[in-house]
Amino acid sequence: MRGRASPLGAAPAPASAPSSRRLVTGGTRGIGLATAELLVAGGARVCVTGRKAEHLDAALRRLGGPEHAIGVCGSSDDESHQATVIDAVIASFGRIDLLVNNAGINPAFGPLGDLEPRAARKIFDVAELITFLLSDRSDWITGQVVTIDGGALLAGPS
Ligand SMILES: NC(=O)c1ccc[n+]([C@@H]2O[C@H](COP(=O)([O-])OP(=O)(O)OC[C@H]3O[C@@H](n4cnc5c(N)ncnc54)[C@H](OP(=O)(O)O)[C@@H]3O)[C@@H](O)[C@H]2O)c1
Repeated sequence: MRGRASPLGAAPAPASAPSSRRLVTGGTRGIGLATAELLVAGGARVCVTGRKAEHLDAALRRLGGPEHAIGVCGSSDDESHQATVIDAVIASFGRIDLLVNNAGINPAFGPLGDLEPRAARKIFDVAELITFLLSDRSDWITGQVVTIDGGALLAGPS
C-alpha cells in the first residue's frame, strides 16, 4: 500500500512512517475520507469514525480493509462513543500519532445573531468537544491534534 498513487489523482501521497497510526473523526465521507485515504497511501494505519454504518463499511472497504483501517460507528458528541473510540484505538494501535478532528456540522447559515442557541451548542459539541475529551486522555496521543473547522460564524452586520 505504501507509495501507491494518491486516490485524489495528481497529488502525491504524503510520506508517513510505516508504523504511524491516525484517527480521523468523520472519516467516512468527504474531506475526512480523502484525508484517511491519503494517510493510508502514505503508509499509516487509520481509525475512522462516522454515524452511519453503511458509510463506515464502504469507507473501510475503500481504505483497504483491516490491515489498513478500523472504524467505530457513532456520533462525536456522544460520550459513550468517544470512550469506545479511545478503547478501540488503544486495543488496535496502542497509541495515536495524529488526530484529525474533522467531524463537523453546519446546521445553520447566516449572521451570528440569527443562530439558535441549540444549533450553536450542537455545532460546538460535534466539532470541538471530542478534542477536549481526547485531550484529557492525551497519554495515548503522542502527536498532533488537527481540527478541520466546522464552518464560520459571521458576527458582524449581514
Ligand atoms: N466542504 C466544505 O466546503 C467545508 C467548508 C468549511 C468547513 N468544512 C468542514 O470540514 C469538515 C468535513 O466537511 P465535508 O464537506 O467533508 O463533510 P461531509 O462530506 O458531510 O462528511 C462529513 C463526515 O463526518 C461524518 N459526520 C457527520 N456528523 C458526524 C457526527 N456528529 N459524528 C461523527 N461523524 C460525523 C459523516 O459521516 P456520517 O454522516 O455517517 O456521520 C462524514 O464522514 C466538517 O467539519 C465541515 O464542517 C467543510
